[in-house]
Amino acid sequence: MSANLPDSSREWHLVARPHGWPKAEDFALREAPVTAPAEGRVLVRNLHFSVDPYMRGRMNDVKSYTPPFELDQPMDGGAVGEVVASNAEGFEAGDHVLHGLGWREYASVPAKHAVKVDASLAPLSAYLGVLGMTGLTAYAGLFDVASFKEGDAVFVSGAAGAVGSQVGQMAKLKGASRVIGSAGSDEKVELLVEEYGFDAAFNYKNGPVAEQLRKAAPDGIDVYFDNVGGEHLEAAISSFNVHGRATICGMISQYNETDPTPAPRNLALVIGKRLRLQGMLVADHSDLKEQFVQEVAGWLNSGELKYRETVVEGIENGFEAFLGLLRGENTGKMIVSLG
Ligand SMILES: NC(=O)c1ccc[n+]([C@@H]2O[C@H](COP(=O)([O-])OP(=O)(O)OC[C@H]3O[C@@H](n4cnc5c(N)ncnc54)[C@H](OP(=O)(O)O)[C@@H]3O)[C@@H](O)[C@H]2O)c1
Repeated sequence: MSANLPDSSREWHLVARPHGWPKAEDFALREAPVTAPAEGRVLVRNLHFSVDPYMRGRMNDVKSYTPPFELDQPMDGGAVGEVVASNAEGFEAGDHVLHGLGWREYASVPAKHAVKVDASLAPLSAYLGVLGMTGLTAYAGLFDVASFKEGDAVFVSGAAGAVGSQVGQMAKLKGASRVIGSAGSDEKVELLVEEYGFDAAFNYKNGPVAEQLRKAAPDGIDVYFDNVGGEHLEAAISSFNVHGRATICGMISQYNETDPTPAPRNLALVIGKRLRLQGMLVADHSDLKEQFVQEVAGWLNSGELKYRETVVEGIENGFEAFLGLLRGENTGKMIVSLG
């Protein structure tokens, strides 16, 4: 082990399963030893890790598409960092890698789960957001799942967030007739229109969503990209034109609910309007990764696609960053940076 490595580092553990909104007592920042990487592994000093809404689901002990976090074990999730010691062919100290062992300062990563990333092409944090998981979610969810086509009117909720902000801009870049976004503050609404070029946007806290959407999309919508669920989904169903398509990507309005949430009251409209509501998981769309990176990198270079990040400094603030994400304190991708 090289002399400049610490004996121990910090990592976040889930220590109790939250009921409703997560509380500080449900989490603990603990010390763990830093050891030389075993055969086939690299030791990575994490520089940034991702906090994401789906992690709330992993805090519950229920069967889902990803296993629950184990109690008294480090949580995981997307991270980028620098290899500080390698015991795997093809990796050496100084390489930057994307991997799945976030929520900790140092990670012993199986080399087969580490992907090299190039810090000279984009800031490393971008590989967690606009060029990473959330960017691909937007791209695949809009172009593949929703079968977006030129001339469609698109409504996206959570529009100032990591996924939503990309959905709206991508739709504009590919010739949407109108793009409407909803978000939780007037500042975010202004950002959508002034910086991201949305045609209309509204603050869902300012009045009933259905009413605000009807005003913003008087000719109806063809695509709804759902990040929020609940009242937003019901409003979209009301505003859909015939043959409308919804990508059901997330339902963040329900993640901290303790009772079952009601379905949209107007679901029967799906029949007459011949709507398609389709769930998605980004993991099903890795075949699009290369095309996505190429196209999005081009848009970023030309300045046609913009993105923001909300960066929280310091591992000790990891839980607060996660809670802040659920409260809407982020604009764009929420990142924890470890400096
Ligand atoms: N299916 C998949 O594979 C996949 C992959 C990635 C993400 N997702 C989903 O996509 C959605 C967006 O994820 P993201 O990573 O881009 O997060 P994000 O939008 O950057 O952050 C979450 C945002 O949700 C909004 N929010 C919180 N509570 C809300 C509520 N009750 N009603 C309306 N909005 C609320 C907040 O913004 P406001 O200030 O606007 O309220 C907050 O900033 C989430 O639902 C997530 O679970 C799904």
